[in-house]
Amino acid sequence: MSTPDDGVLTKAFAARYGTRPTHLSRAPGRVNLIGEHTDYNDLPVLPMALQREVRMALRPRDDGLVRLANESAEFEPVEFEIQPGIPRSAPGHWGNYVKAPADHLAAHFGIRRGFDGVLVSDLPVASGLSSSSALVNTIGLALARLNEVEAGPLELAALMADAERYTGTRGGGMDQAISMGARAGHAARIDFAPLRMSHVPVPAEWRFVVADTGVRAEKSGAAQRAYNTRREECERALRIVGETLVGRGELPTPPASYPALLAALGFDGALAAGRDALDTHLLKRFRHVVTEARRVESAVDMLAGGDLTGMGELMDASHESLRTDYEVSSPELDEMVTLAREGGAVGARLTGAGFGGCAVALAPAGAVEEVVTALRERYWAARSARDASADRVFVAAPSEGASYRALSS
Ligand code: GLA
Repeated sequence: MSTPDDGVLTKAFAARYGTRPTHLSRAPGRVNLIGEHTDYNDLPVLPMALQREVRMALRPRDDGLVRLANESAEFEPVEFEIQPGIPRSAPGHWGNYVKAPADHLAAHFGIRRGFDGVLVSDLPVASGLSSSSALVNTIGLALARLNEVEAGPLELAALMADAERYTGTRGGGMDQAISMGARAGHAARIDFAPLRMSHVPVPAEWRFVVADTGVRAEKSGAAQRAYNTRREECERALRIVGETLVGRGELPTPPASYPALLAALGFDGALAAGRDALDTHLLKRFRHVVTEARRVESAVDMLAGGDLTGMGELMDASHESLRTDYEVSSPELDEMVTLAREGGAVGARLTGAGFGGCAVALAPAGAVEEVVTALRERYWAARSARDASADRVFVAAPSEGASYRALSS
């Protein structure tokens, strides 16, 4: 599953359209190191971009048509006219992730020019590595540039986060931001409302291993509903805690956001308020969100100080909280995390929304091969040989964010 070089894409383009592509747009997937289900609560996250990405060779058109072929036979070509209110494809259809940025940029900037394109991706789909946001960013960046929309990476990332809601998931803004704005060799602490990004170098001796459980968490299916439910629960928890604090005269007005609540009460104060105000179910959701935000702050310090063991402990604690309080893990994710630790990782957790998809494990460079081998052999060899390909478990390289450039003719 390696990404073809520009020559291969150029050839595929020429075979399909009988001419040469003029530009290349690309955007990477991501692995979130810590800070899960915090972004839509306006609390920080700490992801890094991957070496795996979506790449598209394209040639702008003078009319508003978009014609796009996917090199993977699984995905049929899409074709549509750019306009606000583009009719959606069926739920879950990949074309919706192509239409989303076109629809949004048409509504906000009145863009008019489309393109012919051919696209490849080496990101597994529905695995928690943001293949969908990488696709949205690839298309959105190309459309913005060829229509001369003036927006820097952060502004574009915020636009793409809004754009992706066209597909029906009320996602946060993490995936689009890291895919658009990442710096090679770095993770990024991202804050929201307004979107901010600060790059944090990944210590040279640290290795993050990504391991796919092979269980797809389809964004259009049950995982989407469960995700949206979690969001509503978080909103409800904040509202109840705020009303309770006001009712008791402890705050003059209910905090409008989680950051406002934490600014007023601090982490411990917020947790105490949650315990007083919430039922068991909502308290679990609330406790995960608040403790996870605290773990992100600590994780930034661990990265900056090169504290590998400390970072591993935070990742373990994050997984435990996601498993028991947020209830988004799965037996396969729990197994992968356990095997990673047994194989020599200093910490491991599920990454992305959960319900399937990938785990991420941290190991020192000297032990990383053992961790990779343990996961391939103990998780994957126990399953079908066909699925046990090397692609399922790989060492993540902190990579550069999205880019758009002219192809040499
Ligand atoms: C998905 C969403 C993100 C984020 C994660 C969970 O990847 O797209 O915005 O909410 O889930 O941390």
